[in-house]
Amino acid sequence: MREVIKLNQNWNYVKTFDEQFIKGDFSGYDVQTVRLPHANQELPYNYFDEKDYQFISTYQRKFLIPLGKKGQKVFIDFEGVMTYGEVYCNGTFVGSHKGGYTPFSCDLTEVVQFGEENTIVVKVDSTERDDIPPFGNVIDYLCYGGIYRDVYLRFVNPVFVENIFAKPQHVLQKQKQLETTVYLRNSTDDECVVKVHVELTRDGEVIKTASDEVELNPAELTAVDVLMKDIENIELWSIDEPNLYYVTVKVKQDGQLIDTFTTRIGFREAVVKEDGFYLNGERLKIRGLNRHQSWPYVGYAMPERVQKRDADILKYELNLNTVRTSHYPQSKHFLNRCDEIGLLVIEEIPGWQHIGDDGWKKVACANVREMITRDWNHPSIFLWGVRINESPDDHEFYTETNRIARELDPTRQTGGIRCHWGSEFLEDVYTMNDFTHSGGELVLRDQKTVTQLDHYVPYIVTEYNGHMYPTKRFDHEERLMEHALRHMRVLSAAGDDPHIAGTIGWCAFDYNTHYEFGSGDRICYHGVMDMFRIPKFAAYAYSSQISPDRSLVLEPVTLWARGERSIGGVFPLVIFTNCDSVEIKVAGESLGHFYPDHENFSGVEYPPIVIRDTPPIFGEWGCHWYEGEFVGYVQGKAAAVKRFVKNPVPTTLSIEADDQVLEADGQDATRVVFKMLDQAGNILPYINDFVKITVQGPGQIIGPQEVALIGGCIATWIRTTGEPGTIRVQAASTRLVSEEIAVDAIEEGRYDGK
Ligand code: GAL
Repeated sequence: MREVIKLNQNWNYVKTFDEQFIKGDFSGYDVQTVRLPHANQELPYNYFDEKDYQFISTYQRKFLIPLGKKGQKVFIDFEGVMTYGEVYCNGTFVGSHKGGYTPFSCDLTEVVQFGEENTIVVKVDSTERDDIPPFGNVIDYLCYGGIYRDVYLRFVNPVFVENIFAKPQHVLQKQKQLETTVYLRNSTDDECVVKVHVELTRDGEVIKTASDEVELNPAELTAVDVLMKDIENIELWSIDEPNLYYVTVKVKQDGQLIDTFTTRIGFREAVVKEDGFYLNGERLKIRGLNRHQSWPYVGYAMPERVQKRDADILKYELNLNTVRTSHYPQSKHFLNRCDEIGLLVIEEIPGWQHIGDDGWKKVACANVREMITRDWNHPSIFLWGVRINESPDDHEFYTETNRIARELDPTRQTGGIRCHWGSEFLEDVYTMNDFTHSGGELVLRDQKTVTQLDHYVPYIVTEYNGHMYPTKRFDHEERLMEHALRHMRVLSAAGDDPHIAGTIGWCAFDYNTHYEFGSGDRICYHGVMDMFRIPKFAAYAYSSQISPDRSLVLEPVTLWARGERSIGGVFPLVIFTNCDSVEIKVAGESLGHFYPDHENFSGVEYPPIVIRDTPPIFGEWGCHWYEGEFVGYVQGKAAAVKRFVKNPVPTTLSIEADDQVLEADGQDATRVVFKMLDQAGNILPYINDFVKITVQGPGQIIGPQEVALIGGCIATWIRTTGEPGTIRVQAASTRLVSEEIAVDAIEEGRYDGK
């Protein structure tokens, strides 16, 4: 039967390649033992040379195949090798792959020794080769290097399921259907007949089944459609109730079970129309941000838990309903989490502005195929991006990418992210990066101006802001405010325009980039959160857009200091909140209640409060400064409070881990955030103390152990070492010592809270 084994431990790694490695001879070279996901080169936080990770390296793994597996097919599955991987097994070439964002497999059956030790060698080229998208010109992000996603060994019978595509149909009717296309590979030289049995289950209970019999030609892939009709009592997948179901395919030959394959799906109808986006027949304004899958130090190489955490941050901290995986297919773990929590996804092929030659385009077309066949069962994904982000029109190329997408997946619309007006509309949805807003009156263009068509089409704004107003978390208060307001203005303008299905801003998190972009320090400060996922004020423009019944937001955009701004004071003052009103008290005296600005932000449900005039108490320049208190009211009751002290001093070095329990597998990791706080628990934004992080027990710091606070806080990630036990983490600055926190590393498989 099918067996899939994770192959993430015990890889040998050399930072170069030599032909002798293929035969297993590493003599004379420095060999390290590493675990996957792995970054070929750890990097400093900023100001590094991006050439540092652009080299060819080699990974080697030995593994035993039990004799009992004889007669089965053996594959090695790579989820992501950046950017070109060449694979050898026992000295023989078994396959190669161009492109670091999509998976590939190599058939090892003919070259492995059953009952003996075998060796895999992977030559990994992480240079920016101009024959592989996104390379060939400069790009505004880094792709890093190495085997940065999981690797598996897979054993299957000679007749096996290669993939399944389960397509819910008649989703909005009481009686639904499920058409499952099962891709069966007969790798034998003989014709055979198999019975394909499909089960729809939820929480282990079978809801419905369907079967079919099919004849398989020798050495061929056969697709068979199995239709399940009259399915009742299905709960739809939605952003608030992301109900999920499992589809299991069982294949029998001569009455014997020969393969089982399971995928997870959701029943939902998601479509962009001329007048907006509809999820299950209901209009929903898309409110999202773009996400790069990168982190400090290790770039892309973060494990499942950290990938999933990003989805949680987007959904629960930023209260978004959508993410765009700019500009490439992202980790399956991230997408799985989007399914689980109800976060809609636009996924796209790798690329950035540049289109290469015919060979390059072939790889891009392969990327369309690989992306769709990997991800077609995710209910969260509603749109395939089949253009190279912001590239010029190319009729032939994009006709082909659209054709491939529609042929493979007739259930989803296509989009293609562009930034030019009047670009040829070959897709189903016109997806436009509209950077119109530069602080003035004009916020978003009317779609007909952009499309230059005489009629409305399905239309989403897929980027705005970004380079128009880069902002660091530790920037001046007035810049932070304008940054936040620009995001809010776009949200509101989109809300007012029925022909804009929604907006996806640039971007969620700051990211490392090339020297040609960003602030020269290899960081693009375009996020509403920094690289550590710590919010800037702009984050609250998004997070405030949620009902106060679900979560209360009260965030005055101020550092509350007398002399931070020109001439002094904290006005005009913006408050991001979902409260009905906010009372401001200064030195214990009420300045009155202030209300959301529905007039200027009519397109959002929870507009900010904007206080333009300086209250008299702040009028005079002088030696006075006061305590401040903001009290948010919901339905007449005080529901949230935010306090500011007049004389902030470092009072607490706080420490907080995202998780209390990790798997002791040597890959699992969690973020730990350190903040220097004042007497009221607010971050001291200009403290530049350093912190020394100490870890005891089976945990390791990712990145440096001594770090300077950036804008009053910083985070690190702690990775398990492979041993179970309690990891104790503490931080000390020159002035304060944090509490010690404990994170338990539990032996793999024992923790089922994940
Ligand atoms: C866009 C591009 C993004 C990012 C952004 C910055 O043109 O698609 O990747 O560079 O600009 O604002």
